[in-house]
Amino acid sequence: MPSATTSALFTPIKIGQHLLKHRVVLPPMTRMRADDHGNPTEQYAEYYKQRATPGGLLLTEATAISPSAGAFPHTAGIYTNDQIAAWKKVTDAVHEKGGIIFVQIWHGGRASFSFLLPDNQSTVSASDIAIEGNSPFGAPYEKPRALEVEEIKSIIQDFVQAAKNAIAAGFDGVEIHGANGFLVDQFINTSSNKRTDQYGGSIENRTRFALEVVDATTKAIGDDKTAIRLSPWGGFHDMKDDTALATWSYITEQLEKKHPHLAYLHFIEARSDPMTDTPTELKEGEKTETLDPFRALWSGPFISAGNYTYDMKSVFDRAESSPNNLVAIGRAFIANPDLVERLRNNWKLNPYDRATFYTSGPEGYTDYPFYDAKN
Ligand SMILES: Cc1cc2nc3c(=O)[nH]c(=O)nc-3n(C[C@H](O)[C@H](O)[C@H](O)COP(=O)(O)O)c2cc1C
Repeated sequence: MPSATTSALFTPIKIGQHLLKHRVVLPPMTRMRADDHGNPTEQYAEYYKQRATPGGLLLTEATAISPSAGAFPHTAGIYTNDQIAAWKKVTDAVHEKGGIIFVQIWHGGRASFSFLLPDNQSTVSASDIAIEGNSPFGAPYEKPRALEVEEIKSIIQDFVQAAKNAIAAGFDGVEIHGANGFLVDQFINTSSNKRTDQYGGSIENRTRFALEVVDATTKAIGDDKTAIRLSPWGGFHDMKDDTALATWSYITEQLEKKHPHLAYLHFIEARSDPMTDTPTELKEGEKTETLDPFRALWSGPFISAGNYTYDMKSVFDRAESSPNNLVAIGRAFIANPDLVERLRNNWKLNPYDRATFYTSGPEGYTDYPFYDAKN
C-alpha cells in the first residue's frame, strides 16, 4: 500500500465550495435509531462526530423527505421543525471537528410498507409492480399504486423542501438517493417502470423523474450543494434495466451538460451487496459492468462505493488510478470510527458486527473502539 504521504487518497479535492483534505467518504448507511417521530436521537451527533475528520466528507443515512417517504422503521426524516432542530445538533458536532456533511434525501416508493405510512396509505411507485418475496425484515412486499403525474410533481416539491430544510439544519448539501431500488431508481429501471406516459418507456422518459429532481433541487439550493447517488449495475429490490449502460450514460451526459458543477456524482460498483459478508465476483460476461464508462462522461468529483470494505488496498488503488475520485467505505467505517486515521497509518481494522447494524442503542453504533496501540 502506498504511504499516506504519497497516496492520492490523502490529497485535497474540491466538493462544491469545500476543499476536502482527503478522499475517504462515509457513505449513507441506515441504522434505524431515530425516535418514533423520525427525529435523530442524541446518539446521532456522537456517531457522526466520531467519524468526522478535518476536511473529510460524511453522508448521512437515507432520510425521508415526507411522512410518506420512509421505508424502514425508525429512520429519520427531514420534513418537520423538530427533525431540522435535531439534525442541527449533528451538523454542529461534525462542523466543530472541521468535517463536511451532506444528508441523503430519500423516498422509498414500493420498498416501503403501508404500516409505516400515514393512515396506512398504499405504497407508491412508477408502476403497480411489487418487489418479489419478503423484505429483509420478514414482511412480504406490497403491490404499490402507480403515481399520477401530479403526484410525481408533488414528490419533486417534497425533495425541494427537504433540500431547503437540510440547509436550515446546517448541512453542507444534499445527496439525492437515486440508487438501490428506491423510488427514483424504480422510475429509471425497466423492471419496475412500465409506464406509457412521459415518465416511462424510452431512456429519456424513464430518467425524467431523476433529472427533474436534480433540476428542482439545484434551483432551490444551488448546484454546488446538490449531488446524486446512482447504482447502474445494482439488483437490490428487483432492479434490472434492459439498457443499463445506455441509461446511466444518458443520465451522466445530461448532468454533465446541464449541471457540471454538482458537488459530486456517487456511483455504486456492480455486485456490491452489503447484505452478504463476502465479495461477489463478476462472472464472465459481466466484466464490462464497471463504473469506467460513467466516470469518463463526468468531469467533476466522482465517488465510488461498494466492496471497498473488503480490501483497503483497493481503496488506495482507486484513488491512485482515477484522479477525480473519492472512495466511500461502508461497513468498515461502521466498525472503525477512526477509519481515516487507520488508513493513514496502516493500522489494523476492527471487524464489523452485522447483528447490530439495525438494532437500537449505542451497541454497534457508538461503542466501536478507537485504535489503541496496546491492543
Ligand atoms: C447497514 C447498512 C445500511 C445501508 N443504508 C444505506 C442507505 O441508507 N442509503 C444508501 O444509499 N446505501 C445504504 N447502504 C449501502 C452503503 O452505502 C454502501 O454502498 C455499501 O455498504 C457498500 O459499501 P461497503 O462494501 O464498503 O460496505 C447501506 C449499507 C449498510 C451495510
